[in-house]
Amino acid sequence: MKGIVLAGGSGSRLHPVTRSVSKQLLPIYDKPMVFYPLSVLMLAGVRDVLLISTPEDLPLFRRLLGDGSDIGLTMSYAAQPEPKGLAQAFTIGADHIGHDSVCMVLGDNVFHGHGLSALLQREVAALEGCSLFGYTVRDPQRYGVVTTDESGRITGIEEKPARPRSNMAVTGLYMYDNDVVRYAAEVQPSWRDELEITDVNNRYVAEGRARLVELGRGMAWLDTGTHDSLLEAATFVQVLEHRQGEQIACLEEIAYRQGWIDRAQLAVLAEAYGRSSYGDALRRLAGGT
Ligand code: DAU
Repeated sequence: MKGIVLAGGSGSRLHPVTRSVSKQLLPIYDKPMVFYPLSVLMLAGVRDVLLISTPEDLPLFRRLLGDGSDIGLTMSYAAQPEPKGLAQAFTIGADHIGHDSVCMVLGDNVFHGHGLSALLQREVAALEGCSLFGYTVRDPQRYGVVTTDESGRITGIEEKPARPRSNMAVTGLYMYDNDVVRYAAEVQPSWRDELEITDVNNRYVAEGRARLVELGRGMAWLDTGTHDSLLEAATFVQVLEHRQGEQIACLEEIAYRQGWIDRAQLAVLAEAYGRSSYGDALRRLAGGT
């Protein structure tokens, strides 16, 4: 399975903060936002990742993540000249996907919770058609909203409905078989002139090939779309990291635990982070404490 991190967009809801820097490079507490969604792909076992962003911001992501080989990944980069919608990621990424399946995560989505890695790996192994990940929210009208029948089968998805028919939001994490490349190419622009991922998803729903995986109460799916939610996400990470002394979304740690790098490589990477708390956490891990 290939991976895509979609990290473009105008970030206009966070202006003026995002006037000169990509939203997905802003810090969530102690690390850049993009670490969090990238860590989700890594936890799923996905190692070949395309990062899509604006032509202006791509060099910054490349500077941050390089070719990924340090942490056992293959990172490549592609530009989305205009934010024409999430579904465009699959046409921009068509060569990257090739004949494979794909997992896309939005560059501003934060997931955390016990058992997340096992859940993701199960879904990768069992993928048929598409898997969507649902989360109960208080304000569903801000998201894609999914409805299901009594047996839990998806009956439809509405993008930002004024009157949501459920509280179940579709999160920014999507797994698809290879048909997504063709389906995305056939999507027509919506009333807001975007190629909607919800239209792609509804095609799978119509074919009875969409699966909903509900992320329960033990999981956190955090929003970073507003100044307040960004601050809340940072506080969430701070509280957990302080209490446990462990890192959330530490890419090197995940690579090490996945067996993609060894302890010696981890120690080298730790030094590159200097005296930061992130570097200290890596040094502790490499030292076996
Ligand atoms: O976060 C989950 C939600 O993401 C889903 O529930 C919705 O169904 C889905 O449409 C999307 O809604 P958003 O309103 O959050 O989409 P937004 O336009 O804010 O874009 C999400 C991220 O993707 C954002 O960080 C910017 C980036 N983006 C967006 C567009 C439209 C791109 O990189 N390129 C784009 O063309």
